[in-house]
Amino acid sequence: AEVVIVENAAAAGALVATEIVELIESRPDAVLGLATGSTPLPVYLALRTQLAGHDVSQVRGFALDEYVGIDPAHPESYRSVITREVVEPLGLDPQRIHVPNGAAATIQHAGDDYEAAIAAAGGVDLQILGIGTDGHIGFNEPGSSFASQTRVKTLTEQTREDNARFFDSIDDVPRHCITQGLGTILKARHLVLLAFGEGKAQAVADAVEGPLTAFLPGSAIQLHPHATVVVDEAAASRLK
Ligand code: F6R
Repeated sequence: AEVVIVENAAAAGALVATEIVELIESRPDAVLGLATGSTPLPVYLALRTQLAGHDVSQVRGFALDEYVGIDPAHPESYRSVITREVVEPLGLDPQRIHVPNGAAATIQHAGDDYEAAIAAAGGVDLQILGIGTDGHIGFNEPGSSFASQTRVKTLTEQTREDNARFFDSIDDVPRHCITQGLGTILKARHLVLLAFGEGKAQAVADAVEGPLTAFLPGSAIQLHPHATVVVDEAAASRLK
């Protein structure tokens, strides 16, 4: 992967936003791969300014993941987060922005349906990724197959603890998720992985320089011909 070290998260946001604006200028119906969590927020913030005046009516998007069994209207469902942080502030067409369906009733075919929708859109042009402290990308926790497709996974206790900050208590954090697989993510034409802070330094070093292993799902980016890693000094501190 190409590693770009920037001064801070805001600089990373501006850089990646510029890349996205150029993509949309060359392809008005570009397909964006959207991540949730804290890491991509500076990108979405920078896009508010950088996309102003651009026609975004054709832009399409696919989120990486969703909790299973959460009400889509819950403020911390990833459907709600994507609506609040991306769709509404950027003025995107909500019909063109997809989030895996975590509703229990349809969960058996939700993964296949999502794969079919991505394929029908012609695949993802630019996939934004964060990385978990345990090396997960999307919600592909350690042990995920490099060939995996969108499916239901069990969240690790580490990830539930990491995400408890978004909920009233850890007991409210869902135990399962539906996530694009590593195989799904690797099909995107450009991967842009962002990470900030000392807490991500080991996961970043392992993903970029460590052995390819299902125990560090982020290492899958080493298989991709066009992966860019944008980090601040702290997150870069364990790179050789
Ligand atoms: C979220 C996602 C996760 C996060 C990761 C880091 O859609 O796919 O892989 O990117 O858990 O989360 P933050 O950015 O909150 O540190």
